[in-house]
Amino acid sequence: MTGQKAAKQLEQLAQQIDHHEERYRAGEPEISDAAFDEIWDSYRQLADELGVDARQRVDARPGADHSDGFVTVEHRIPMLSLEKLSPNRRDSHGELVSISDQLDAWYLRRRKDLDLAEDAALELVVEPKIDGISASLLYEKGRLVRAVTRGDGKKGDDITRQVRASGAVPERLGKRGNFEIRGELYWPRSAFGAYNEKLRASGDKTIVNPRNGCAGMMKRKDPSGLGDVGIAAFLYQVAWAEGIQLPETQSGVLDWLAELGAPVYSDEFLRAGNADAAFEYCEGYHERRLTLEFDIDGMVIKIDDLSCYDRLGGTGHHPHWGVAYKFPPEQKPTKLLGVSVQVGKSGKLTPVAELEPVFVGGTQVSRASLHNFVELERKDVRIKDTVLVEKAGEIIPQVVAVVPELRPKGTCRIKRPADCPTCATAVVEEDIFIYCPNPECPDQVRERLRHFASRIAMDIEGFGAVLVDQVVSALDVSRPDQLFSLTTEQLSGLERMGKKSADNAMAGLAAAKERGLSKVLTGLSIRHVGTSMAEDLATHFEAATALLSFAERYCDGDDDAVQLVAPDKSTDRGVIEGLARKSADSIFAELNSAQLRGIFEGLRAAGVRLDVLESQLVSVEGVDGKTFVLTGTLPTLKRTDAGDRIKKAGGKVSGSVSKKTDFLVAGQDAGSKLAKAEKLGVNVLDESTLLKMLGD
Ligand code: IVH
Repeated sequence: MTGQKAAKQLEQLAQQIDHHEERYRAGEPEISDAAFDEIWDSYRQLADELGVDARQRVDARPGADHSDGFVTVEHRIPMLSLEKLSPNRRDSHGELVSISDQLDAWYLRRRKDLDLAEDAALELVVEPKIDGISASLLYEKGRLVRAVTRGDGKKGDDITRQVRASGAVPERLGKRGNFEIRGELYWPRSAFGAYNEKLRASGDKTIVNPRNGCAGMMKRKDPSGLGDVGIAAFLYQVAWAEGIQLPETQSGVLDWLAELGAPVYSDEFLRAGNADAAFEYCEGYHERRLTLEFDIDGMVIKIDDLSCYDRLGGTGHHPHWGVAYKFPPEQKPTKLLGVSVQVGKSGKLTPVAELEPVFVGGTQVSRASLHNFVELERKDVRIKDTVLVEKAGEIIPQVVAVVPELRPKGTCRIKRPADCPTCATAVVEEDIFIYCPNPECPDQVRERLRHFASRIAMDIEGFGAVLVDQVVSALDVSRPDQLFSLTTEQLSGLERMGKKSADNAMAGLAAAKERGLSKVLTGLSIRHVGTSMAEDLATHFEAATALLSFAERYCDGDDDAVQLVAPDKSTDRGVIEGLARKSADSIFAELNSAQLRGIFEGLRAAGVRLDVLESQLVSVEGVDGKTFVLTGTLPTLKRTDAGDRIKKAGGKVSGSVSKKTDFLVAGQDAGSKLAKAEKLGVNVLDESTLLKMLGD
């Protein structure tokens, strides 16, 4: 491969990673974790070969999962990922390297890093890798005081109330010292099944899998009732401690935690004398995992002696003291009968494999995603090929690879479509994707309306995909603003729609009018505008009128407007958070189109709020840019609400006091944080002073 071609391929892989991370964060993953890992591994391998600088690599940043309405807490010690042993790793001659060879190589590297003599022991601990959501739990003098999600690894969301209400971890652990424990929250299979059964019985949508379900439960704003759903935890690490003597080994920590009464599953971890024993234990779990009460997606192999950890260090992405062994998801061969093309909400054309039905991952599969045409060409998938199909969890099945030995004679490469299969408009290519540029394409219209009404956008209750399809086909609705002119009579006249459902949908529409600009922008299916870009645009412009007039100036080439987005060639990024020049060209062109202007006009006329909700407004002088820490019980506000108010005014909320803290807001029973703030000379406020600062 030429250097130029390799660089282009690396860029495409990075774009795929960005895209799938965004989908994952939006709660709508398009591919399985295993498929994502494969893209990730290809990226890592190519980036290594090209010697890409660590700071420019996408694998140097941990993923993010911040949710609105949760207070952000900075982790005292970052929550990193683990390096993975990958089934797809190849050596410099292109030969696949087996997992056991990779583990041997990892073990030897660590021995070398530690300067160990050939006959010196280096014990390992092997634990199941629970497929849940990781959390960091702070215990002060034996009491649980805070629980935080992993977030982007540096800061996460405060889920203390949710974790407490769930009863997944002990409220008290030991009596002395302060310590931060890391672990995994998960939903045991039986409890998850029972919950889904209830949903099914009441005609509600069931939850896709226990991990998504657990994440959803922990992001419930109102945690009441969480104690009944059966969320559990597996605690495996003490990240930080003061005032107590910790054991010197990982196995000792697990025993210690178990003695204190923490859930650690003593039966499931092993002390192994070398890499071979660790590998054998992992292999045994291919069968054993099926009998467990919880989903595991692999095993974690850790060095037992904790005193080695600092010496071994790590990268910004993972520590060197541990490594993850991942289970391969089930794969089955089947025949590729044809490739159809689906048109998405923004006109993206996705190739879909039409397969000879095959039973894989617990269900019959006859269609599978081929993701995009770059991916399809990379795998060189051809009609009549035998392909391997994989279905991890309950996510969309996908074609993993072709079995080249079984290719019949006379096959030919699949051509990229030149025209949209639905409306025959000539397609356009952008990055790794192909688009139908016709906004009136019937498939796009339907998908856009479904998206507009969906939970991540306007969250129109009572307006599911089926009703959207009905209003498109029976009532000729083609634009989101037209939804707001529908009447109860029209809706109740639709097939299988009673008066009650129609009333519900109408109430859903009325409530959705109040969502504010960022949700409207998320819902309009503007290319490159996902949830976070929509928030960045809404925060910057505050109202649709300002945004649209800026779009017009930008498209006219107005110097000031262009400067605002890209003041400097070297950074290619201006003052609008998250917005780079290349996406700006496309976003503002779309916002400036007659189609989008018409929709905004229609939404305005229907009474939909097109400004940033007051509660979302930023920048209160004196608070903006300042870092606050909240401690103790405040007289009127809950700490989470006080944190929300501070964040909305442009301030930051951190979980721990440091020299960077500007203000400590202290309530009743403020403990060690107050003492530390006083020691560091940090300003201490009470609630009423905070409220004054916030303008109350
Ligand atoms: S140790 C530096 N042990 O797997 C992170 N992690 O891919 C060290 N996980 O973020 C974590 N079970 O959420 C560790 N027994 C276990 C685990 C475990 C599940 C998760 C955890 C972590 C991810 C790393």
